[in-house]
Amino acid sequence: MMFDEFGFPGDTDLDHAAPLLETFVYCSRAAESVDDMEVDRLIEWAQRSNADRGITGVLVFGSGIFFQWIEGPPSQVQNLIASLHGDPRHHDIVALDRSVEKRDRLYPNWEMERVGPDQIRTVLQDALDSAEDEKNIAALKRILGHLDSSPLDTLGRK
Ligand SMILES: Cc1cc2nc3c(=O)[nH]c(=O)nc-3n(C[C@H](O)[C@H](O)[C@H](O)COP(=O)(O)O)c2cc1C
Repeated sequence: MMFDEFGFPGDTDLDHAAPLLETFVYCSRAAESVDDMEVDRLIEWAQRSNADRGITGVLVFGSGIFFQWIEGPPSQVQNLIASLHGDPRHHDIVALDRSVEKRDRLYPNWEMERVGPDQIRTVLQDALDSAEDEKNIAALKRILGHLDSSPLDTLGRK
């Protein structure tokens, strides 16, 4: 039998070989037992674990509130989401965005920022401005309300 040609994909496919990525963006409130040292330990551990699993993103922590952007292979991101939901170090998880698409990473390196009360308010306000889901809007307003009514350094540590 003769082969006239081989079934290689066209050039355009090779040019646009963006990986399939799942993205998960959420915010949550830290448990009362979580202090700065615990956050440091958490970051150190997450950096290693994420590197092994091809997960990158950003974690912001300020005023007892976490905001995290996660991107990576769908199966790995789904495992991490399940772990996050069972992690007693935070609660009131609000999913802000979740998608699966072929694209390049927004955050190719793991980054971590520890922000102050004003910045976490900006992060949440930006999320609220672009939120469309009614439940997300209500949850974000609730979290912003907590920020306004609680002494900032004790939020999440009642
Ligand atoms: C705010 C927050 C962010 C976290 N981020 C990550 C992360 O980026 N990567 C990770 O592997 N674990 C992260 N963890 C820890 C996971 O929730 C979980 O403890 C870890 O993945 C081990 O899960 P397992 O026991 O189900 O294997 C985070 C935990 C918290 C509270």
